Amino acid sequence: MTKPLRLGIAGLGTVGAGVVKIVRQKAALLEARGGRPIEISAVCARSRGKDRGVPLDSYGWEDDPVALATRDDVDVFVELMGGSDGPAKAATEAALKAGKDVVSANKALLAYHGQALAEAAEASDAVLRFEAAVAGGIPVVKALTEGLAGNDIERVMGVMNGTCNYILTRMESAGLTYDEAFAEADGLGYLEADPNLDVGGIDAGHKLALLASIAFGTQVAFDAVELEGIGRVSIEDIRQAADMGYKVKLLGVCQMTGRGLEQRMSPCLVPATSPLGQLEGGTNMVVIEGDQVGQIVLRGAGAGEGPTASAVMGDVLDIARGTRVSTFGQPSGHLVKAEAATTSTPAPYYLRLVLLDKPGALAKVAAVLGEAGVSINRMRQRSHDQDTAPVLIVTHKTTRAALDAALQAMVGTSVVEGEPVALRIEQL
Ligand code: NAP
Ligand code: HSE
Repeated sequence: MTKPLRLGIAGLGTVGAGVVKIVRQKAALLEARGGRPIEISAVCARSRGKDRGVPLDSYGWEDDPVALATRDDVDVFVELMGGSDGPAKAATEAALKAGKDVVSANKALLAYHGQALAEAAEASDAVLRFEAAVAGGIPVVKALTEGLAGNDIERVMGVMNGTCNYILTRMESAGLTYDEAFAEADGLGYLEADPNLDVGGIDAGHKLALLASIAFGTQVAFDAVELEGIGRVSIEDIRQAADMGYKVKLLGVCQMTGRGLEQRMSPCLVPATSPLGQLEGGTNMVVIEGDQVGQIVLRGAGAGEGPTASAVMGDVLDIARGTRVSTFGQPSGHLVKAEAATTSTPAPYYLRLVLLDKPGALAKVAAVLGEAGVSINRMRQRSHDQDTAPVLIVTHKTTRAALDAALQAMVGTSVVEGEPVALRIEQL
């Protein structure tokens, strides 16, 4: 009989329990596809007594993830604990040092230590795969490293955090407050252990940095991602944007420009009729543009037990088959340190201002924009009863620097109340 591939699974939460279930329930299918039986030798979690909804008695148990990672009867260490440092990092390093292959769903770990871990894997002739870390069940890492390997990648963008997309779409479609939509997302199991990773855009930023590395052959540079979460997106902006034919999305964009590598994760407006604009709920979407393939769109569940475990098993089966791809699609020594773009590509912007309702106020704002070189494309003043007038402006393409100069100058006009809202309109 062919030698089985023996797994050691660290973490038995949402994803870990899902992986155990697949291994137990699909043994024949996995063996047929992988060319050898897939077995679990041992598992590890914090609490041994917890009911995981799946029998674990037939597997060995380790309290210490490092001990699991280095067991003689483990060929592949499957890291499903989470956390950028601590036990996840220690156990992954130990597994690679011992020459074990590693499959991880941990975007935080890879975003901070991806380069060092890729080097460690190569030093031991091991592989380190992380499909489940980006966009859950969508096989986007495989698409970039393998299916699209013959392309120069021009741009990668997408909605990569289910929690944020769920919150934004529920605020729009059901009129929920931010807190109500957040509570619903929590109930669906979308949130990270620290929810600020989700709503602060950090989790999605981790994922974007990993895709940028594969797409542009650069060392992972999470610190260079321009990050903004959804905390400042108001129901008012979601409604006004919808009224003007846009949806608000936490959108990640990375592209190599003449000014360096641009990586942005921030709330943006996208056309309501575009595939990204139509993306509802906890679903993720990644759009890839390659010089040969043109634009492709990948859409699917970005989180949850089944979809994430599905991605983990894809990596496990690759290892069973003997497919050995470099962590970021090419040997780690080839990955270059990219210069971060200091300015973002020009784009149109949506502005929402509250103007004092007095003669000449609008003219002053228009003058300030004009002096900064920002041209107005569309403008709308909402009907109102108070002393202030809500004004919406869509600019023509402009640089962020010109826009910031205009926003700053508006403060000095004494006709703008509060802080204007500015959201980039991403061109798709
Ligand atoms: P989770 O439900 O919180 O489960 C984490 C598991 O790790 C638990 O079983 C926990 O043990 C165990 N654990 C934590 N610290 C440990 C330690 N020091 N020693 C041993 N075990 C430890 O997390 P999850 O949602 O499954 O996520 C796991 C990983 O997948 C994370 O990196 C996450 O970012 C990533 N991911 C998750 C999803 C998703 O939809 N959930 C999607 C994509 C990627 P106890 O159960 O005993 O506490
Ligand atoms: N918290 C993440 C999300 C889970 O909401 O998308 C999947 O990475």
